[in-house]
Amino acid sequence: MSYQNIVTEYADHLGFITIDRPKKLNALNKATIKELHDAFKEMDLEEQVRVIIITGSGEKAFVAGADISEFADFDKSQGKELARKGQKKLFDYVATLSTPVIAAVNGFALGGGLELAMACHIRVASDNARMGLPEVSLGLIPGYGGTQRLPQLVGKGKALEMITTGGMIGADDAFSHGLVNHVVAQEELISFCEAMGDKIARNSPLAIASAIKAVNANFEDSVNGFEIEIDAFGKCFGTDDFNEGTAAFLEKRKPNF
Ligand code: COA
Repeated sequence: MSYQNIVTEYADHLGFITIDRPKKLNALNKATIKELHDAFKEMDLEEQVRVIIITGSGEKAFVAGADISEFADFDKSQGKELARKGQKKLFDYVATLSTPVIAAVNGFALGGGLELAMACHIRVASDNARMGLPEVSLGLIPGYGGTQRLPQLVGKGKALEMITTGGMIGADDAFSHGLVNHVVAQEELISFCEAMGDKIARNSPLAIASAIKAVNANFEDSVNGFEIEIDAFGKCFGTDDFNEGTAAFLEKRKPNF
């Protein structure tokens, strides 16, 4: 598939998505959100892709937010639709994808940009990254899951501080609050994520998909996560991946999933 606002690349078991609107600091307009949905879907269906790495083009920004120029004249119902459709098409879609997604946060991750990074399963930031949810400075609140996922990651107090001040925090601060898993030098960001991707790719993709589902269940009010875990655990038995993983261990060799 060809895209106008993003670039997709494949290398062995890794899929790379680069949001490519550097002149607009990779702001998420409607077209970009649709292309991201399509690219994630395409990569998730591609058996060879075991891990997806998403980053922003240029050295300045991961994503500087939703494209403000697109919604400046929206009314209440259009605003609601924007949040609902965006959450469904991209943010919840990424969070529940079977293939693990690593966000390589290479600069500003603001508003929808931070919300996208938070929807990913793992976040690695470059040392120049700046993160925040500045929506209240626009007379808005975060609408792509930010009020829910930020407290899950950093706790209610820090989340409310970030959301009400609308301020940005640096990579080290983000790391100290659990918002990102690692901070690395900017020039090492992608190779660091690739190495993590290689490690993940050695494991059973079936088991990884089940683990994502079970962990996500912890954050859903209507389900009992422990029951989801028991069910998913049981379903692993008898799968090809389980047979291969256990056989490899007993035969003292590396599994080939
Ligand atoms: N939506 C639309 N356009 C955006 C954007 C966004 N969220 N963020 C940046 N841009 C555009 C700017 O309008 C500018 O376009 P122009 O050159 O056509 O005028 C271009 O990207 C470069 O941004 P600029 O503001 O000149 O860069 P800067 O280095 O001075 O500042 C930021 C960087 C990130 C601090 C600043 O761009 C900013 O505050 N962006 C908005 C962040 C935000 O509120 N996000 C939440 C949206 S809900």
